[in-house]
Amino acid sequence: MRTIAVVNQKGGCGKTVTAINISAFLARRQRKVLLIDMDPQGHATLGLQTDPVHPAGTISEVLLRESKEESPGLRDVRRTVLPGLDLVPADIVLSGVPERLSAVSGREYRLAQALAEVRGMYHYVIVDCPPGVGLLTFNALIACSETIIPVDPSFFSLHGVGKLMETLDVLARRADHDMESRALITLYTGRADFFREVVADIRKHLPGRVFDTVVRFSVKLAEAASHGLPIVEYCKHCAGFEDYGMVTAEILRQEERRPVLSGSIGDADQSAGFEPEAADVPAASAPVLTEEGVLFTLEAPAAERVQIAGDFNSWEPAGGEMEFSNGVWRAMISLVPGRYRYRYVVDGEWRADPSNPEVERSPYGEYDSVIDLK
Ligand SMILES: Nc1ncnc2c1ncn2[C@@H]1O[C@H](COP(=O)(O)OP(=O)(O)OP(=O)(O)O)[C@@H](O)[C@H]1O
Ligand SMILES: [Mg+2]
Repeated sequence: MRTIAVVNQKGGCGKTVTAINISAFLARRQRKVLLIDMDPQGHATLGLQTDPVHPAGTISEVLLRESKEESPGLRDVRRTVLPGLDLVPADIVLSGVPERLSAVSGREYRLAQALAEVRGMYHYVIVDCPPGVGLLTFNALIACSETIIPVDPSFFSLHGVGKLMETLDVLARRADHDMESRALITLYTGRADFFREVVADIRKHLPGRVFDTVVRFSVKLAEAASHGLPIVEYCKHCAGFEDYGMVTAEILRQEERRPVLSGSIGDADQSAGFEPEAADVPAASAPVLTEEGVLFTLEAPAAERVQIAGDFNSWEPAGGEMEFSNGVWRAMISLVPGRYRYRYVVDGEWRADPSNPEVERSPYGEYDSVIDLK
């Protein structure tokens, strides 16, 4: 079970939008996900349109339990919001929890203890943290072994990200557990040189600790949240959908190092018929010549339909349906030696192969990918 806290003391940098959307995309990829709202603002709860006014139970009651034998536990307050995605809601009552626990020893470990009771029932636990670094955030950091730090380049400096990562490292050492933190650049407009410089700086100074994907500013993401929906349920042809699909693909690729399938997943009542995919998700590559033909692969985790069109099928996408498995779209095509131009058609949108550096300008001014079979 991978446990990921989405954290940044700065408000409004995309924590909740990130938590909701990666949870929904992971669930679409057949992972069983528990999203825990640890913010008294209850934005993740609102963003998934459950009853925010009188939820049957919230994270507050779980944190306030005297002992883990008491009810309710996470199992009692979670609710299924999408196939494969359960939510533990929060409301304003959570804002009083730190004070009520202020004299209790071990108060930082309450969430970690509660999580122990659902171990083995989920592939992923995603925790949406509040802004600030109080007891609620500490609980999340102690309970999780990874963090995603959304960073809005317009008002966050490299210094700020570096400092935050240092704090997380210190905390991980204090909590005596290994924690991996990765920054995710969000709300990116790329308009001003200043933003581009901040992003380049963050990448240079934190090598390997920044997601390759940059989440662009997308009005649809804000709209989706205001309608109580993750982007996967709202709009499939927008930057937000594409970007969070790619972020999720990166998270899935990390499963090679951080397997999610330790033991069997699921409790009898909730996950009947749930079939996890293999944990290792091979990355797509440029076309590969095999004994059966040429294997074309494309990573488009968010796509509903991918086709390939090229010189070999008269540029007719209908004759080039690709199949999706383990995070990658594939097509095996037998070809005689020669030079072929091709493009992928992702949900109706034509694109060159991002893994193949060999391109040629088409008569329409776009780039076609090219393979040369000797
Ligand atoms: N990529 C994006 N494009 C456009 N709007 C976005 C994007 N990401 C987030 N937003 C919007 O920006 C605002 C802040 O986002 P969000 O609520 O996710 O931030 P947060 O870090 O969780 O804030 P808080 O610290 O208050 O919990 C919201 O109105 C949200 O809809
Ligand atoms: Mg939030």
